[in-house]
Amino acid sequence: DPGAHVPVLVIGTGYGGSVAALRLAQAGIDVHMIEMGMAWDTPGSDGKIFCNTTSPDYRSYWLRTKTKQPISNFLGFPIDKNTPRHTGILDAEEMGGIIVYQGRGVGGGSLVNGGMAVTPRRENFGAVLPSVNADEMYGTYYPRANAGLGVSTIDPAWFDTVDCYQYARVGRKHAQRSGFPFIFVPDVYDWDYMKQEAAGTVPKSAVAGEILYGNNHGKKSLQQTYIAQAKATGKVTISPLHKVTSVAPAAGGGYTVVIDQINTNGDTTTTKTVTADKVFFAAGSVGTSKLLVKLKATGALPNLNSETGKGWGDNGNVMCGRANHLWDPTGKVQSGIPCSGIDNWAAGGAFAEVAPLPTGIETYASFYLSITKNPNRAQFSWNAAAGKVDLNWQTAWKQASIDMAKTIFDKINAKEGTIYRTDLFGTYKIWGDHLTYHPLGGAVLNKATDNYGRLHGHPGLYVIDGSLIPGNTSVNPFVTITALAERNIEKIIATDL
Ligand code: FDA
Repeated sequence: DPGAHVPVLVIGTGYGGSVAALRLAQAGIDVHMIEMGMAWDTPGSDGKIFCNTTSPDYRSYWLRTKTKQPISNFLGFPIDKNTPRHTGILDAEEMGGIIVYQGRGVGGGSLVNGGMAVTPRRENFGAVLPSVNADEMYGTYYPRANAGLGVSTIDPAWFDTVDCYQYARVGRKHAQRSGFPFIFVPDVYDWDYMKQEAAGTVPKSAVAGEILYGNNHGKKSLQQTYIAQAKATGKVTISPLHKVTSVAPAAGGGYTVVIDQINTNGDTTTTKTVTADKVFFAAGSVGTSKLLVKLKATGALPNLNSETGKGWGDNGNVMCGRANHLWDPTGKVQSGIPCSGIDNWAAGGAFAEVAPLPTGIETYASFYLSITKNPNRAQFSWNAAAGKVDLNWQTAWKQASIDMAKTIFDKINAKEGTIYRTDLFGTYKIWGDHLTYHPLGGAVLNKATDNYGRLHGHPGLYVIDGSLIPGNTSVNPFVTITALAERNIEKIIATDL
């Protein structure tokens, strides 16, 4: 409808967008959410909404003709395969020196992620969000976020016995033998459901290795939590397969938002225009940064300040595998949901999650995703000649992360008499240093915005997603993104609406 007007438009349906929508709706305000990915509410011909990790099909990748798996090789063989181009769930977005993995669909990253729901240690919070009052975060907003997301921790007694966490018990043994603290990491997965999966009484999801391309059961993604609650208010509508391309001041006040409706091949079928009194950018760190940088450079939002597009980091992500001895098998059946980590942040700047390698066969491999204190920050800029936004991240900047991860794994290898796997990321390549799962920054709080996410220069525009966080959270990021969104929306509702 060309004359359409909405009080609030939210761009994106990930953590930030879902928190904003729920709280605004509860305050009595009508909200329209725009999501470029699919709804993910309809089963395919196999009866499942999501495809399995071991057999990625048309549902797996966002507009690619070949999969781009985080682990590209196994025992010397490339494992990527052709798939039909489709608006699949996982985007492996190539941004120059780094591939940024992101969820696409209603629920954003919550659809594809491991659900690891980690609150940073309080002593690290000052470095995560320096302008935010830690007492308020730890007293009010982290608890609110954890409750809203449905976070809980694995039953340690069950962990000790179940086949699907043998890989994590091997991880614990090796961590402890080298003197590193091993910790259980909370998650949004329904642990009671997983117990029933392991017992064979319900359809399997995590225990069938599901992760990356969606979980058919058990995981409380945003679709089951914030978005379900938001829809239940009757005040929130969602348009999937719609992509925002422009936001600019409207003649009569508010903002004109231009939206492309796309089909499942990614082609634009219709372009729509809507006027909104207020617009929340919740398109994720990369999505929001790309929009803002383009809109500033092309004159649509000329008053955005010079911090726009700056302060982007990869949360120090780096991956590696270790080859265990034959007496340390990691298990043929591995839960796709990680539940534990090795904390060497204070001493070595690395927090390593003990990750699954759900291949369905015994690999004797231990696999880890480390979050490190990588100090490098990149900037998004408008490439007028190419008509796109670039990011100046350099692959070599990951060396800092590799060095920090080595503070854990060199020691474990020395103690165990083991070596790194060299076959997972190419041929004779130890480190998965080409990617991140945790993009953060680009519209940093108290820099590109005020201390509550209000964009400078354009009243009524807000940022409320991972782009507010300056590049690192010291742990997995979505609890912090959610808690910050809870804090900011409370203030915005109280003062701006
Ligand atoms: P998020 O990316 O969730 O949502 C943005 C939404 O906006 C997307 O749905 C996108 O399609 C949409 N969008 C973008 N541009 C748009 C446009 N122009 N128009 C309309 N819609 C648009 N974190 C964690 O804490 N624990 C974990 O275990 C993991 N594990 C993990 C695994 C994998 C494989 C990935 C890819 C990521 C994780 N993460 C994670 C990271 C976590 O998922 C991530 O930090 C959050 O989803 C980011 O939340 P945001 O609200 O910032 O955006």
